[in-house]
Amino acid sequence: MIYDYIIIGAGISGLNAARLIPENKKVLILCKKSPWECNTFYAQGGIASAVDDFDIKEHINDTLNAGANYNNKKAVQILSENSLSCIQDLIQEGLKFDLNDENKLAFTKEAAHSKSRILHADGDATGRMMHLFLLQASKHQIKTNVVVNDLLIQEDICYGVQYFTSEYEQELAYAHNTIIASGGVGSIYKYHTNSPTIAGELQGICLEKGLILKDMEMMQFHPTVVKGTHFARKPLLSEALRGEGAFIVDEKNHRFLFDYHKDGELAPRDIVCRAMFDYEQKTKSSIYLSLENFKEDFFKKRFPNIYKNLKDLGFNLPYDKIPISPAYHYAMGGIKTNLNTRIPNMKNLYAIGESACIGIHGANRLASNSLLEGLVFSKISVEYSLKKDYKISKSEYKKEIKSYIRNNNIDKTIKNDLRKIMWHCASIVRNEEDIVNSLKKLNNFLKKDVGRLLFLRLLTAKSILQSAIRRKSSLGAHYIKENK
Ligand code: SIN
Repeated sequence: MIYDYIIIGAGISGLNAARLIPENKKVLILCKKSPWECNTFYAQGGIASAVDDFDIKEHINDTLNAGANYNNKKAVQILSENSLSCIQDLIQEGLKFDLNDENKLAFTKEAAHSKSRILHADGDATGRMMHLFLLQASKHQIKTNVVVNDLLIQEDICYGVQYFTSEYEQELAYAHNTIIASGGVGSIYKYHTNSPTIAGELQGICLEKGLILKDMEMMQFHPTVVKGTHFARKPLLSEALRGEGAFIVDEKNHRFLFDYHKDGELAPRDIVCRAMFDYEQKTKSSIYLSLENFKEDFFKKRFPNIYKNLKDLGFNLPYDKIPISPAYHYAMGGIKTNLNTRIPNMKNLYAIGESACIGIHGANRLASNSLLEGLVFSKISVEYSLKKDYKISKSEYKKEIKSYIRNNNIDKTIKNDLRKIMWHCASIVRNEEDIVNSLKKLNNFLKKDVGRLLFLRLLTAKSILQSAIRRKSSLGAHYIKENK
């Protein structure tokens, strides 16, 4: 059996691609755990879109400004120009975004946007609502609890994938087209906002096959997660809170971010994170998110999930200040692709969404552009590949099918060490000596008899450090300070 498409990942990119592939095609969606264990599910604030045709230019400018002008301008243009039609398509298919009092689409504001242009659904559950909608809209088969451990690549053709089943056995699936939509790298960091399934394994496989990862030093931290909870995945406090009136203070209620940037809490994310890091180091003050500008009823209605999470954690809202810190959030870098989402030099292998790097986000992603990227470029990927209509011939694949060990006994300790190392050295403020020393440690880990999945994570982590070493001066999220 040969599928027309294998899609690796069931977040917004993978599911929207599946939705757009005609029903008569044979499609297999591979999902590492349950379908809702993806970053889309956890996305709160919303999805950015040009508000109308006149706003496209401004949306592009905001994206470039936030990205330190390191973005691929053509990709940004495609993103914004397609935003209105892609959103409209979903609305016509039945997705409900929140409406304002006049029954029109309600747009909110987030940092570094020059105007309100973020759509949201069920208040602060935008990702979850979009994900649910796309899950219901896709007519194709989803296989859950399967972990891809290899791509069947021979020369410039991908014949499909090899994966571990839930019984830890290995299976193969062949396809005329393979689309990687497996997300970023969150779980290689000690503290993050990502689903625990997101760990950069597909990026590692690509490295192994000689495919190029781009901008891997560009790792984004989110300024506002709740500090002090037990799990690695930290509860996110959406930037939309700040867009609508929440603000960041020190112990004495001083809004210190204005000492760093004229836009204070609404400066680009990398700047806010750096300012928080610097201020905390200098003053030793704890940092808080103040919600005092909200009336409790409004807050509960507008941000129902954050309200509930904070209540469950024992906060008295909106009166209590919430202790916050930044946490790892998003990979701007990833598998290098062309504008049509095809991986360079490959005939039938594609990457979309956070796993890919098409250059949209530059050195710092503009808030809420990620769901939009998933939507727009999954559509481009499907349209392009359908037109190309590439066909593999299974019998031409002659390479040895490898047998991998999924996890080994030593993995747990190394995995934890890796997460600490990445948190320490590939972080908000970086130091070349630290990175070089950490790279040595990663190289040592790679010499050990680790399981396949950790091996792939280590490769990905290594590429982040190598890229960071190559970039000698600060740019956006890659900020170097000697002797921090
Ligand atoms: C948030 O709601 O703050 C997350 C939005 C994003 O990461 O784009």
